[in-house]
This record gives sequence, structure tokens and C-alpha cells, in this order.
Amino acid sequence: MNLSPTAPDRAEAGDRDEFRDAVLAGLARQPRAIPPRFLYDARGSELFDAICELPEYYLTRTETGILTACTPELALLAGPGCALVEFGSGSSVKTRLLLDAMPDLAAYVPIDISRQHLDATAERLRRDYPRLRVEPVCADYMALETLPVDLNGGDMSGAPRLGFFPGSTIGNLEPHEATAFLRRARTLLGDRGALVLGVDLKKDPQRLHDAYNDSAGVTAAFTLNLLRRMNRELGATFDLSAFAHEAFYDPVEGRIAIYFRSLRDQSVIVAGRPFAFTAGERVHTEYSYKYDTADIAALAQSAGFTIDRTWTDPGRQFAVVYLEAAA
Ligand code: AVI
Repeated sequence: MNLSPTAPDRAEAGDRDEFRDAVLAGLARQPRAIPPRFLYDARGSELFDAICELPEYYLTRTETGILTACTPELALLAGPGCALVEFGSGSSVKTRLLLDAMPDLAAYVPIDISRQHLDATAERLRRDYPRLRVEPVCADYMALETLPVDLNGGDMSGAPRLGFFPGSTIGNLEPHEATAFLRRARTLLGDRGALVLGVDLKKDPQRLHDAYNDSAGVTAAFTLNLLRRMNRELGATFDLSAFAHEAFYDPVEGRIAIYFRSLRDQSVIVAGRPFAFTAGERVHTEYSYKYDTADIAALAQSAGFTIDRTWTDPGRQFAVVYLEAAA
């Protein structure tokens, strides 16, 4: 009998080791922090989808509205026959707005760390867009040096590359990470490349506060799901009623900062090790940076892009920017 783990089991074990190592390291340092990517287990992804539907969370519907209006112009700027490369494609919902406006794409290249997400998305898109060449790449887009897809052979010869990074995901990167990501994207997209970037704008702090402290408590459940995940995957002993979600806007840093906070002095076992929490102590889980037009221009310039076009909604809540590789 073959008792060696199957490929998905091995992948799961690898994911769990990475999660354990990151959590133990994050709880051992001061200030305590756990990287935001671990918020997105299956339940976390469902909760994030629910966040996108909340009345207070204006980001998703505002960006969708902008994209719906700007895709004809965007398609003209990109020109015919380019390859669309999406960083962190997930379920590629917003991508369809671009695919509908750009029927003559040379290819669609979704990049995502989740093989399951990628395969399901590729299958759906091939069904719904039978003439589209879909070339999924399973990788961490933050670490990708080159595109492992032959976009230069056959009728793809020399297809210019159009990157797509919607959803204000750039906001979850710290400034040095955002610059590093954009530099990588600039290299990957090449000298004739362009990038469509979705960015949440600085605005009334109360509006920002409400978007991350919704009245239905979905964002709180999203943050506290990380504790549930540690309990399940790392044998942790977090009492969820003894911790609270905390999110506030820091106008100096221009970011929402998100934590889980201990409501009392307590000790918790995580992966077999004890960790003491004092009442009021916080563990950082996410930043969500907000930009103004000068911030976006500086970020673009630091990575070798220039802003060709900016589209916003009438209330200037959110921006979709078209960046071109600087000469
Ligand atoms: C995925 N990302 C853009 C969201 C944001 O707005 O920063 C994550 C999020 N966290 C809590 N609410 C939304």
C-alpha cells in the first residue's frame, strides 16, 4: 500500500508549516504581527466576498462602476492584440469587464497562488470565452521574475503586455513592498507594457473608518477568523470572545491599521508554545494604505512607470490608473 501523501496533501502540509512558522515568528516579535495573506483561508475568502457586498465597503462597487465606464477607452489605449496579465486573479470577476471590451486579446494570463482558484477560473473563462487563449500561471506574483508562458511564439509574436492589479490590493502592501511589486511588474510587462491599477483614495476619515468597522460585524469576523484558523490548523487555544477586532485610520501614515486585541490578561497555546497577552495588547493583521494623486505619481515613478490616464468616480473615492512603462 502506498502511504505517501498525495500531491494536495503535501501542498496542504507545506502551507501549514509556512503558516505555523509565520505565526510563531510573528507572535515572538514586538510589536506582534501576522502577515495578511493568512487571512484568506476558505472561510476568510468567503468573508472577504461578503465584505465586498457591505453598504459601508464602497471600494468594490465603486471600482466596478469606474471599470464599467472606462473599459472602452482603456481598450483603445492598450490597442489590439495585447496579452492581459492579472496579478492575483482570484475568481477574475472584474477581469470580465476587460475581456468583454477587448475581444481581440492575444491571451489572458491569470497569476494566482491558489491552484484550485486558477483551474476553476480558467475552466469557466474558457467556457464563456471560447476564442480566448487562457494561460494560467500558479505562482506568488510578489516573487515572480519572468512569465513562465511562451507569449512570443506563433501568432503571439511580440504581443504587448497589459497588467491588471485591481481591488486596491496594492493598499495592503507597505510602501517598500508596493514599489518592489511595481518594479517587478514593470520588468515582467516589458518596455511596451502597461498596467491598470485600482487604488483607494484618501478621503473623509469617518468614511474610511466605517468601511473597516461595518455595523454587521463582517470585518470583525474576517479578522477573528484568523484566530479560528490558528485553533484549527495549529492546535491553538484562542477564546474568540476574549479578543476583539480593531481598525482605525492613521492620517499621518495614510492607512487603515487592523489588529486583533486581547480583552484581558491571558495565556494562549499556539503550536504547543505558550504566549502571554496583556489586556489591551494588539496583534497587527493588515494595513490598507490610501493614496492621493501625488502619492500614486510618486509610486509609479519610483518603479519606472508614468501615469497615462486616471479615471475616478464622481465622489473621487477610488481611482483606476493606466500606467505606461517609462521610456
Ligand atoms: C483585499 N483588500 C484590498 C482589502 C482592503 O480593503 O484593504 C482587505 C480588507 N480587510 C478588511 N476589509 C477589507
